[in-house]
Amino acid sequence: MVNPLTEKSLLRLSSVAQLRGRFSVPGDKSISHRSVILGALAEGTTTITGFLRSEDCMATLNIMKQLGVPIDDDGVSIRVHGVGLNGLKMATGDLDCGNAGTAMRLLSGVLAAQNFSSTLTGDESLSVRPMNRIIKPLTQMGAQITSDKGTAPLIFSAVGSLKPINYDSPIASAQVKSAILLAGLFAEGITTVTEPKKSRDHTETMLAGFGATIDVDGLKVAIKGKPQLKGQNIEVPGDVSSAAFFMVLALCHRDADIIVENVCINPTRVGVVHILKAMGGDIRFLHRRVIAGESVADIHIKSSRLKGIEVPNQWIPSAIDEFPAIFIAAAHADGLFQLTEAEELRHKESDRIAVMSQGLAIMGLSCKELPGGVVINGQGADWHPLGACLDGAGDHRCAMSFLVVSALHSETDMVVKGCHNIATSFPNFFKLMGQLSLFLEESVPVITIDGPSGVGKGTISSLTAKALGWHLLDSGSIYRAMALQAINMKLEPNDESQLVDAAKDLDLCFNVCEDGSSQVLLNQQPVTDQLRSESIGDMASKIASIADLRVALFSRQRAFQQQPGLVADGRDMGTIVFPSAPLKVFLTASVEERAKRRLKQLNDSGVDVRIRDLLNDIEARDLRDSSRKVAPLVPARDAHIIDTSGLSIEEVLSQVLTLARQFVV
Ligand code: S3P
Repeated sequence: MVNPLTEKSLLRLSSVAQLRGRFSVPGDKSISHRSVILGALAEGTTTITGFLRSEDCMATLNIMKQLGVPIDDDGVSIRVHGVGLNGLKMATGDLDCGNAGTAMRLLSGVLAAQNFSSTLTGDESLSVRPMNRIIKPLTQMGAQITSDKGTAPLIFSAVGSLKPINYDSPIASAQVKSAILLAGLFAEGITTVTEPKKSRDHTETMLAGFGATIDVDGLKVAIKGKPQLKGQNIEVPGDVSSAAFFMVLALCHRDADIIVENVCINPTRVGVVHILKAMGGDIRFLHRRVIAGESVADIHIKSSRLKGIEVPNQWIPSAIDEFPAIFIAAAHADGLFQLTEAEELRHKESDRIAVMSQGLAIMGLSCKELPGGVVINGQGADWHPLGACLDGAGDHRCAMSFLVVSALHSETDMVVKGCHNIATSFPNFFKLMGQLSLFLEESVPVITIDGPSGVGKGTISSLTAKALGWHLLDSGSIYRAMALQAINMKLEPNDESQLVDAAKDLDLCFNVCEDGSSQVLLNQQPVTDQLRSESIGDMASKIASIADLRVALFSRQRAFQQQPGLVADGRDMGTIVFPSAPLKVFLTASVEERAKRRLKQLNDSGVDVRIRDLLNDIEARDLRDSSRKVAPLVPARDAHIIDTSGLSIEEVLSQVLTLARQFVV
């Protein structure tokens, strides 16, 4: 296990030829949050087994403790010694919800009614999520909530009691509905919430189980205030949202047959199953049963040929957390997949429409972002994604979805960053994957610096490597050494098969000298200075267009990817050799500027050349390098382009190091 994960860790999962297994996923996140909150407000003890010990749910549990609720945990079950509706105590400090939107919105319903003040805070992601959706109805009930711009931190003033309302919610959100129902516990009379579509119903189900008077009439839920809640025994079933990653993994895998046991299949949560089945997925529920008021089953999933569909709007609320994983299924399906009315996805732990579309596009998929969804042009079971560094953007579900892609495509150089929040919902994700022989691998970071000849990439690359204490790959010198070998062997650029054989046998190594400079040894002889000549450069550019020769030199370049990191300088480092590099820089400068720089370099070393000849040479090489069929000189799709014309070396270096600090180190 790689630990600790940071936002810059570069992760992937290994692949497995046959995916088999029978296992369970951790407890349902929504039910876990609610079990502690209701347990705390009840009288007597609530014993919870299967509680999800994820960062999100632990945030709720710790907040209840801060509010004076005694809770003990023997590692198997959690016992909440309820304090009753009026028993919460003022906390000494702020109440930190971390990444958990559910904690913040549900607890708001409770804190809004107290006769003491409190402050709910959250992490960076939670602090930009919309809170007006709960502030508005709670304020109508008499709460006094202060918030800057409708986002966290939320400050609740002491009020003591609330009044009931009948609220027509503009959005199908269980968090909004639950905040109002929980606040309704503290309001004399009947509080109702009506939603435009049915959202998950765990709050109303559990409230009824604890003894509250709940009336559900279609999309309208009513609660009678001031009930006496009674502690319960709650067995939390497995989370279908966590099972979804395994569903998609198995469906898209060539040879999979797995069973995820003991999963909550509450009808308001299984939109993912409806969608994946409509796409042709072989998913079956086995041994259906009811546990603590919730439907539970074992889910059997087999490899399937999937097809794209237009997602029916009525399935959206019940699949709202699973779309990142569903998009991965869509990429592996035949034909178009379309989702249009899921604007809510933009307000989750990240803007999931943007994060997932960017990831899919960077893997080469045609994917169109819509205001409320995406159109994905699925590539079918034989899809070969392009190598990439995918960004989970600190959103647990996006990160796990991208990791599923990495597990399906060991042939592709792919890593995922932004995975540091996976433990908010799925603390043993990597352990479970490991049990299925999909092992977590951490990749060594690479910064690629590509660009045309004379742009200064050699200097910038070696200075960057020196500043970071990383290895340096001057890939150009490999092609130049190969050119020298070709000249020594009297081979012409069109002697392709002999050149390829020579590349395979190339006796080449790099020595790092005392002063930090590197020396190139060809056939055990130092050739560093010889490699700099114009004629070698010209020959290198000619032979570099031979596809098989590039392949022969490929693994030699990849071998430079060693701890603690590599700066790779060349022409196709970001596009071909290291597509999963987390930072790709492409340097450019005008032909005139590059000719001037080259002229100075040559004059300094006593070589007399005419600027006109240099200009012609550079133009010819640019054309050859950028128009060759294999590995043409082009910026990677995700490259940062720096025009170095008019910039000093220090200025370019400083820009590269700023990018390095932002994206890599
Ligand atoms: C949740 C409700 C959903 C869901 C979230 C958990 C809950 O949010 O996305 O992960 O437990 O109530 P919305 O209700 O805002 O859609």
